[in-house]
Amino acid sequence: MKPIKIAENIYDVGVNDWNISDFHGYSLKLGTSYNAYLIVDDKIALIDAVKKDFADQLIANISQVVDPHRIDFVVSNHTEMDHSGGLPRIMHRIGENKPLYCSKMGFKNLSQHFTHKWNYQPVQSGDEVSLGKRTLTFLDTRMLHWPDSMFTYLKEDQILFSSDAFGQHYAGFEKFDDVMGDAIMPHAKKYFANILNPYAPLVLKLHAQIVEMGLDINMICPDHGIIWRENPSKIIDAYVRWAKQESGQKAVVIYDTMWHSTEAMANAIAAGIAAVGVNVRPMYIRNWHRSDIMTEVLDAKAVVIGSPTLNNGLFPTVSDFLTYMKGLKPLNKIGAAFGSYGWSGEAAKLISSELEAMKFDIFEAGPRIQYVPGDDSLAKCFEFGESIGAKIIKS
Ligand code: FEO
Repeated sequence: MKPIKIAENIYDVGVNDWNISDFHGYSLKLGTSYNAYLIVDDKIALIDAVKKDFADQLIANISQVVDPHRIDFVVSNHTEMDHSGGLPRIMHRIGENKPLYCSKMGFKNLSQHFTHKWNYQPVQSGDEVSLGKRTLTFLDTRMLHWPDSMFTYLKEDQILFSSDAFGQHYAGFEKFDDVMGDAIMPHAKKYFANILNPYAPLVLKLHAQIVEMGLDINMICPDHGIIWRENPSKIIDAYVRWAKQESGQKAVVIYDTMWHSTEAMANAIAAGIAAVGVNVRPMYIRNWHRSDIMTEVLDAKAVVIGSPTLNNGLFPTVSDFLTYMKGLKPLNKIGAAFGSYGWSGEAAKLISSELEAMKFDIFEAGPRIQYVPGDDSLAKCFEFGESIGAKIIKS
């Protein structure tokens, strides 16, 4: 990929990963990018690296701007391997003794990932490094989303190199918000829902800290996806909204089914919710990837989950989804459960217990129907949906 000039003497020298479809369990439809940034000043800095397999491409991209050996130091904002995997190759190419700036936890974590004895320079919030005419300032963003995460801010240009934050899994030649327009927002939302949601309170705390510091941000350069140059406040505002877990009048009905009974119940419940004017979508768990379901859960007020009872337990796909959702810690949700069964019928109760453990506000016990729901049973499901819809409207 040709390096992309993002400001005077600043380039994105990262790479597109067009073919990746599974990013540690998160489904990608349009690949991703591993962005890395080159700042050419009196000194030359590289901010972040790329995944191991793309290290040669990174070096080739840098070489189109400067001889990589001229790089004076590297900043590692985050240890995860999609940004550090290429470090051994790049450090070898630029010189193993060149300074490698990272957070204190970055030093610890990089040392546990790589055996190389690099010239680590651990930094903390407020530390600065001069490039000559420009200055880099570091901001510790611990647990957003790893213990080592930090931001790097280029003071004179007011550019924030934000590591994973404000990113999106999107590979494309379009590299800026003004080129992509609103089409990038679903990717940013999915990224937040599946990566940053567990740390929502920390996102709000960091936002307050940035406001208090009076940090002017002219451009945000994340490590994945497009760069926010026209309107960085658009993604900042979206992060605040998502982190507050604000929900609209929206519900999701998530289910699996064995012989279409739980499916019929799901459709009737969803129809009842819709009948009172609440936006709802039934989501058949085998047609939707868990990461796409979580994107819908992010701004839904109610999460209604259905499962048949299989061998006295939950359907495995429903267990899988509940485990995934639990880790992502959604807040401020109404929860409800339902399901069909043959003879024992534990599933709905098991779902309720799981939702309760996730601190969902449990709605009344949902319908449990033996074998095949008839018209009366489906009418009850519809009414149940109407009651959930009414509660959403009231809340
Ligand atoms: Fe893009 Fe947390 O790595």
